[in-house]
Amino acid sequence: MLFVISLKAEEQFFKLNFLWGVTMTETTGQVLTAVEKIEKVREILKENEYKPSRLIPILQAVQEVYRYLPKEVMNFVAEELKIPAGKIYGVATFYAHFSLDPKGKHLIRICDGTACHVRGSEPILTAVRNKLGLTKTKSTTDDMLFTLETVSCLGACGLAPVMVVDEDVHGQMTPDKAVALIDEILKTEKA
Ligand code: FES
Repeated sequence: MLFVISLKAEEQFFKLNFLWGVTMTETTGQVLTAVEKIEKVREILKENEYKPSRLIPILQAVQEVYRYLPKEVMNFVAEELKIPAGKIYGVATFYAHFSLDPKGKHLIRICDGTACHVRGSEPILTAVRNKLGLTKTKSTTDDMLFTLETVSCLGACGLAPVMVVDEDVHGQMTPDKAVALIDEILKTEKA
């Protein structure tokens, strides 16, 4: 019986990988195929010796692969660690670091902490939303190219207003500069 349940989880896992696998990328920018992603998750579990006590680092590493924690993958990890899926879901929802929603290839974070807010983060946010067709309730573009998030403080208040695109911090941002940065990314993506 246990084997049947395990197989079902794995089937879902494969299905998910074929849905998202070839279009998503790691933070390194490296494109992973569906099979490579499955192998990565298996490697992560192996490196952590299938220890439930290593759940947080395991989930962090899995999120690196998928850029979020898909439900089917959490089920798969639960099966492999032999712990209830609810426990994994509990950890994943408790820590703000984990995301249960798919994220776009490029992550844009606009700081709306006090210093950035005072120096004009709001018009930047509006400009980026307008540029990407996003709203307060829609934070990822339909083509999965961009996800927009606001953060409370990035610890770079001297550079306010601050916007981070993937790993790059951009200070003294303006709505025009923000839109120009997005245009640059779009140009590179189309090249
Ligand atoms: S308030 Fe924006 S970096 Fe601190």
